[in-house]
Amino acid sequence: MKELTWPTLENLVLPVKALFTGYLLVVGLGLLMAGGQIMLTHGMADGKFGLSMDDLVYSYYGNREGSKLEAKLNGSMKDYAPAENKLEMIKWARAGAPEAEWESKIKPVTDQYCVACHANMPGLVNVGDKDTMIKVAEIDHGASVTTLTRVSHIHLFGISFIFFFVGLIFSFATGFSPITKALLIFTPFLFLILDIAAWWLTKMVPGFAWLVMIGGFGYSLASTVMIFSSLYQMCVKPFMAKKA
Ligand code: HEC
Repeated sequence: MKELTWPTLENLVLPVKALFTGYLLVVGLGLLMAGGQIMLTHGMADGKFGLSMDDLVYSYYGNREGSKLEAKLNGSMKDYAPAENKLEMIKWARAGAPEAEWESKIKPVTDQYCVACHANMPGLVNVGDKDTMIKVAEIDHGASVTTLTRVSHIHLFGISFIFFFVGLIFSFATGFSPITKALLIFTPFLFLILDIAAWWLTKMVPGFAWLVMIGGFGYSLASTVMIFSSLYQMCVKPFMAKKA
């Protein structure tokens, strides 16, 4: 029987190395950006920088004691309006966001203090708009089922593509026992499923926030190991060997 051989990263032909290296660089950068985005969105959910359990609970379960508007006005938006105007908005939210008070009481405040950012920066909710404001003034139930379904399937399809190619490239690496390799390749997929499951669980029971943390951490770690060792074996190791 002819032995089945699997090429090694070190000995790949230059064009394939170029392809793999380019891909890994871009994916690595993408993962960094994803991390940055998580810090800026979920990370700021409790108004403090850095990802904490509270952030995850706020993002998925919500803050069911009050509205998002109130949480933000006491959190990351607290420096943007004078205390009396903030109080006015909070009272309005607690009163169930009565439409009758919008024009006279709330709109002038958001026009003056909020829309400079919120009507112009892409991705921010337009708090100068009545219907949008009524929504953020409702009790915060965290991520909606619609949002979670959308984000879940995008993540599952999109991220599995990334891990498929990262894993395929890493399967040509040397110096790892087959079982270690198999585990590293399989881990991100497992954690991806765990991560998504954890979102849904946290939406229902806030106590599951730690699972989201572990899920995200697990696949970041496994893919970092694979990306760095693959890049090293393709781009650095061959030159070290020549020198020696
Ligand atoms: C300097 C720009 C800036 C100003 C001024 C500003 N915001 Fe924000 N706002 C942001 C950014 C950036 C975010 C997203 C990050 C975050 O949630 O902290 C945000 C998020 C929010 C959110 C959360 C929206 C969501 O769905 O997650 C609310 C509510 C909010 N702002 C209300 C206000 C109100 C009310 C004012 C006026 C008192 C205001 N903001 C003024 C930049 C601004």
